[in-house]
Amino acid sequence: MAVILDGAKVAGEIKQEIRKKVDMLLEADYARRPHLSVILVGENPASQVYVRGKERDCQECGFSQETIRLPADTGRGTLLDTINRLNDNPGVDGILVQLPLPKGLDEWAMLEEILPTKDVDCFHPLNVGKVAIGTPEFVPCTPKGVMRLLLEYGIPVAGKNCVVLGRSNIVGKPMAQLLTAADGTVSLCHSKTENLEAFTRNADILVSAVGKAGLITADMVKESAVVVDVAMNRGADGKLCGDVDFKSVEPKASYITPVPGGIGPMTRAMLMENVLRAWEAF
Ligand code: GUN
Repeated sequence: MAVILDGAKVAGEIKQEIRKKVDMLLEADYARRPHLSVILVGENPASQVYVRGKERDCQECGFSQETIRLPADTGRGTLLDTINRLNDNPGVDGILVQLPLPKGLDEWAMLEEILPTKDVDCFHPLNVGKVAIGTPEFVPCTPKGVMRLLLEYGIPVAGKNCVVLGRSNIVGKPMAQLLTAADGTVSLCHSKTENLEAFTRNADILVSAVGKAGLITADMVKESAVVVDVAMNRGADGKLCGDVDFKSVEPKASYITPVPGGIGPMTRAMLMENVLRAWEAF
């Protein structure tokens, strides 16, 4: 039986700590609350759910927050103007452009326009580079949430075989960098990896961020591995699930994240930490 890595519980505790810190600093000499501005372009249903979650998190942490909703046919110029207005506003600590953007808007070009000191997603090339060389200002929320959850449960990374599945800029690549920085021995696997099982079966820590329900079955997992499922999929039964076949893998693992209630809430708590950091630091 594996220990369940209870991201929902840990995230709740982190948000309470943030709230305490905000109250304390407001009582000292901080003039205003931390502020997060979210830009949501179009009507993507999943994005709307995610943004509502961020709005709730900000409330829980005692932050002020606004969501700027723009129509799906918003042009590059309007979006750039919106970002620049927030860049110039000293009352805004963090700016988050919810992804995906509608077709026609170049996501990474837009994200480059966010002031690096307000880039709480850690998507700006300057911040990405700082993570890569090991001197981060911000750390991207999902991989940061994975590292924090491992830390909270006292799971060592140094010297361990860490296998990351998925090489996205948002999760897989920075995940591999953070595990490397923590002295893990890291393999970054992806859709072209040959003999994937040879990697996963050797993993002491397996992090899956692919987006394919049922991808990881018990025969692919080493006995007593730590299994972290970053994905959020809909299974054939319509229920939310990750990449890992939880039922068969859980008895073999030493620790495992549930989906939902694992990395999702941790990602959101880490966003709140990044906003807090922006407010404190800049
Ligand atoms: N859409 C899905 N994940 C993310 C994220 O981490 N940040 C933003 N801005 N949009 C997303």
